Amino acid sequence: MPLFLQTTSPLSMQLVLPLENDSPVPLHRQIYEQLRQRILHGQLPPGQRLPSTRVLAHTLSISRTTASLGYEQLLSEGYLQTRSGSGTYVCDQIPEQLLQVDPLKVPVPSTALVPRLSRYGKSLSENWIPRDEARPQAINFRYGSPAFDALPLEQWRRLLVRHCRCSPGVLDYSRDPLGYQPLRESIARYLNRSRAVRCQADQVLIIGGSLQALDLTTRILIDPGDVVAVEDPGYLGARNTFLSQGADLLGLPVDKEGVMMEKLTGQLPRAINLVYVTPSHQFPSGAVLSLPRRLALLAWAKANNALIIEDDYDSEYRYSGRPIPSLQGLDQGNSVIYIGTFSKVLFPSLRIGYLVLPPDLLPVFAQARWVVDRHSPMLEQYVLRDFIEEGHLERHIRRMRSLYAERRHVLVEALHTHLGNRAIILGEEAGMHVLVRFQTQISDEVLIEQAAAVGVGLSSAAINYLCTGVTGEFIFGYADLTPEQIVEGVIRIAHILHR
Ligand SMILES: Cc1ncc(COP(=O)(O)O)c(C=O)c1O
Repeated sequence: MPLFLQTTSPLSMQLVLPLENDSPVPLHRQIYEQLRQRILHGQLPPGQRLPSTRVLAHTLSISRTTASLGYEQLLSEGYLQTRSGSGTYVCDQIPEQLLQVDPLKVPVPSTALVPRLSRYGKSLSENWIPRDEARPQAINFRYGSPAFDALPLEQWRRLLVRHCRCSPGVLDYSRDPLGYQPLRESIARYLNRSRAVRCQADQVLIIGGSLQALDLTTRILIDPGDVVAVEDPGYLGARNTFLSQGADLLGLPVDKEGVMMEKLTGQLPRAINLVYVTPSHQFPSGAVLSLPRRLALLAWAKANNALIIEDDYDSEYRYSGRPIPSLQGLDQGNSVIYIGTFSKVLFPSLRIGYLVLPPDLLPVFAQARWVVDRHSPMLEQYVLRDFIEEGHLERHIRRMRSLYAERRHVLVEALHTHLGNRAIILGEEAGMHVLVRFQTQISDEVLIEQAAAVGVGLSSAAINYLCTGVTGEFIFGYADLTPEQIVEGVIRIAHILHR
C-alpha cells in the first residue's frame, strides 16, 4: 500500500503505512522502520510535520500506545523532534547526515604531508619483513592453525551465553591489569601440573597473546641499541618486535639439541641482558632443547644477570620421549620470563596468552599494561576460566594430541613414500608443524608458485633466518588438514619436484 500523506490541514493529515498484523516484527517496530526509510529517502523531508499519535492510531487502526512507541524510537534516535505545542516534525538534520562526510567538502592539502615518524615508527617500517604466509589454497600447509573443525565450540558457546547474561563485572573496566584473578589461578594450576612451571597465580599476567607479551617485555627491558640474543633460525614475530624497538640482534645457531650456547659463552663485544628461546619446540626447526643446554643457559643467565624469554607456544603437543621440564621450572635464579598462549590449544583469534613473571617485575608490567590498554577483555577471561575448570581444555588437548600425532605421522609417511631422499624431515617430535628440507634446484619462489598452481599452499622458512640465502626449507603445518588432504598435497608437490 503506498504512502499517502496529506499535509494541507494538520488536523486532517493522514499517514498510511502498510502494516502486517501477522508479521513477527511488532507493529511499533514496523512503524519505526517504515518512517525511518521514508525520512532517509526524502519522502518525509526535513521539517515535515507528522500526524499526532492519536490521528496515526486512528488512521492505521492501532492503539495509541503502539503509535507512540514507534515515534519515541525515532525521537530518541534523532530522526524526529517535537516542538512544544505544535507537534512532531522530521529533524532538520537526520542522524545519517551527521555521520557522513562529503568527500568533496574535505579540504585536500596542496602538498602531500610526509608524517614525521618516531624512532619506533621508522624502525618498524625500515625493518619490516612481511610474513611469508602460505597463500589460501585448497590444501594449505600453513603453520600455526589448529584443527578448527575439532574445537569444542558447543561448550565454549554455552559458557559465553552464561557469562554474557549474568556475570557482574564482565562489561566494566577491571581494576586489575594483571587479569581476572580466578583465571590467573586456573592458569597457574594448569601450568604447575602440565608444564612443571613453578608459579603462584600472583605471578601470572593475562595478555593479548604471545606477541603482546613480547612487545611489553621489550618495551620494559630493552633500550635502543641493546643486544638481544635470538635463535637463528627463529620466530620472525619475535625478531620484528625486538628490531622495531631498536634492539640489535645476536643470532645463536640451532642444531638437533636446540639453540647452541657457544656465542653466548664466548667473548662478547657488548653485554647481553635478554635471550629469546623456544625450548620445547624450537621455531621453526622443531628441535627440543636438551636438558644439559637448558641448565647451561640458566647458569649463564644467572652469572650474567640476564633474563631469558621462554616462548612455550605449542609445547602441549609432544608425541615421543619424556617431557623435559620448562626452563622456568628448572630456574633457581628468577631469570625466566615464561610466555604461553591459547592460540594453539584453542584458537588464535581469542588473543589470550599469559606471562609468568619473576616477582620483582610484576609491578612494572602491571603499570605498563594499564598504560597500554588496561587489560584483556573480561568476557573471554570468564569463559576461559570455566572452560579450564570444567576440564574442557585438557580434554581437548588430549584429543588434539592424538589427532595431530596421526596427522603428523601421515605427513611424514607421505613425504617418505612420495619424495624419498628428496625430502629431509626435521623436528618431528612435537608441535603442529615440521620443517622439511627439499633437495632441489628449484627456488623457493618458483616452488611456491608451482604449488599454488596445483592448489597447494607452502611457506618457505627462509624469512626466519637472520642471514639471507637459505633455500629449500619449508614449514609444513598439518594440524588443520585431513589425512587425505595431506597425502594429496604431498603427491602434488612430488609431481613438481620429480619433473
Ligand atoms: C614461536 C611462536 N610463538 C608464538 C606464536 C603465537 O603467538 P600468539 O599467541 O600471539 O598468537 C607463534 C605463532 O605461530 C609462534 O610461532
